[in-house]
Amino acid sequence: MPRTIGLMSGTSLDGVDAAWLDTDGVRVSAFGPAVTVPYSDAFRRELRALLDLAPGLPSGDPRLAAAEERLTDYHVQAVEQLGAPADLIGFHGQTILHQPQNRRTWQIGDGDALYRRLGIPVVYDFRSADVAAGGQGAPLVPVYHAALATDLPKPIAVLNIGGVANVTWIGPDGALLSFDTGPGNGPLDDWVFRHTGQAFDRDGALGRSGAVDAVVLGRLMADPYFALPGPKSLDRLDFNRSLGTSGLSALSPADGAATLTEFTVASIAGATFPIPPQRWLVCGGGRLNPVLMERLGRALNVPVVPVETVGWNGDALEAQCFGFLAARSVRGLPLSFPSTTGVPNPITGGRMAGL
Ligand SMILES: Nc1ncnc2c1ncn2[C@@H]1O[C@H](COP(=O)(O)OP(=O)(O)O)[C@@H](O)[C@H]1O
Ligand SMILES: [Mg+2]
Repeated sequence: MPRTIGLMSGTSLDGVDAAWLDTDGVRVSAFGPAVTVPYSDAFRRELRALLDLAPGLPSGDPRLAAAEERLTDYHVQAVEQLGAPADLIGFHGQTILHQPQNRRTWQIGDGDALYRRLGIPVVYDFRSADVAAGGQGAPLVPVYHAALATDLPKPIAVLNIGGVANVTWIGPDGALLSFDTGPGNGPLDDWVFRHTGQAFDRDGALGRSGAVDAVVLGRLMADPYFALPGPKSLDRLDFNRSLGTSGLSALSPADGAATLTEFTVASIAGATFPIPPQRWLVCGGGRLNPVLMERLGRALNVPVVPVETVGWNGDALEAQCFGFLAARSVRGLPLSFPSTTGVPNPITGGRMAGL
């Protein structure tokens, strides 16, 4: 089986995750080391600015080229830190725009440059083919969740809480259903950054000290996104309008943090499936917020546990997924399905450098 390295940088803009995986894109025969290379504060600010500019940005813009070069540096560094030989790299890149309704999704990152610098073949640009075919381009992780969960009791839900939150439901017969549930850590991170200068609400401390404002929460939950059926997906900035008009800004830092934590919980708890999951496995940085996890457990009324409970690595899972998807891509296997992204037919994806 190819030795793969998956590289993921999520919507939280916190850095690059790299993980080693021995996989043929169907099964995983061995897990390897994983590392995270955090972005500098300056680079995170640069990326945040790019997110706001992206809708009107021509692809030749010098700011884009500069960010792409720095981004490639971070990825080279992540692979070098991993220090494990590999045959294939899956390179997600940093999403700066996601508008599937306009058949556009944009991950920056230069796959050819990464291949030239590392000498390892690279699969990149995983989402465009799905979006061009009419899919949401996201989530792409369900097929990996399903591969990991083969022997677990079903129905089960695998929830990733990154900047945005996405869920994979795996039915008793292995059927998959997935979509972005709503906000993950993104709005809370932004709030905490604005009020305290910290990148996130460490251990949920600020949120725990505040009270949920039911009126603001009600306005946030009235966003039309929640009434849409899946498959559906979100841009990092999709809730900015409703956040701006919700009355949130009048709340104290603590009450705002409590309310945004509850916003994530309520939107996840509002997700519906053909048969309710018996258990929720949670990966991504949100599982490290104990307030979020406790409230989720209460709202869902079934066990909500970190994926470590079943032996998976909740920090590395999304990165591992892109090694897995790279292996699928070189074999021409589908990455997405009508029930996961809404694409009309199962479809492969990814562009290749050095293959
Ligand atoms: N100890 C912690 N307490 C609370 N939140 C945390 C903690 N550690 C990480 N997080 C949250 O996880 C986020 C990063 O999650 P991650 O899964 O990397 O998201 P993404 O995939 O979008 O990059 C941080 O921005 C923060 O909100
Ligand atoms: Mg991250």
